[in-house]
Amino acid sequence: MKRVSVLASGRGSNFQAIIDSVESGRLEVTIGSLITDNPQAYAIERAERAGIPVQLVNFASYAERSAYEAALLQAMEDSSADLFVLAGYMRILEGMIVRRYLGRLINIHPALLPSFPGLHAQEQALRHGVKISGCTVHFVDEGMDTGPIILQRCVPVRDDDDEEGLSARILAQEHIALPEAIGLFCEGRLKIEGRRVRVLPRE
Ligand code: GRF
Repeated sequence: MKRVSVLASGRGSNFQAIIDSVESGRLEVTIGSLITDNPQAYAIERAERAGIPVQLVNFASYAERSAYEAALLQAMEDSSADLFVLAGYMRILEGMIVRRYLGRLINIHPALLPSFPGLHAQEQALRHGVKISGCTVHFVDEGMDTGPIILQRCVPVRDDDDEEGLSARILAQEHIALPEAIGLFCEGRLKIEGRRVRVLPRE
């Protein structure tokens, strides 16, 4: 069975969605570890409850960013994961790490990329006035939310939406999209062809 490590910095509801999918048998992977940069992350409690090892690489305890990155890379190596999932991991990964795991590193973003990359995507979408937003699971490359798109789910924007309401409805779709993308990867069904990701039929 493929091993997956999840990187999360905070609440960890996407991490929980992965745990739930595994526990219910919908997703056949081993969650090898939670890797977090934040000792206060609620995701840690979720990991402990599910019996998943936690690898804490506490950003605040490193004087230099490069030392933190070296420790993160070491933690990722130690995890022996086949796939790394950024699920609310709030730091930009350094180029060397991205290159090392190219094609084995995915991210979930709360907008329909390439619209609204970066922080506060839901607020950006509301401000712009789009009628449809959603979420995107994509491979990570060296840009900001620019890598090849694996799948997207859309969410209509309502006239009376605020950031909280829209974010909650997008989040519900994230919780479906992320386990699905992990499943496709772990079944070997994702083929990257330039910017496009082909989803191969089940064998
Ligand atoms: C999600 O909206 C995700 O798309 C973004 O950060 C948020 C993390 O939420 N990258 P959670 O920690 O999974 O609850």
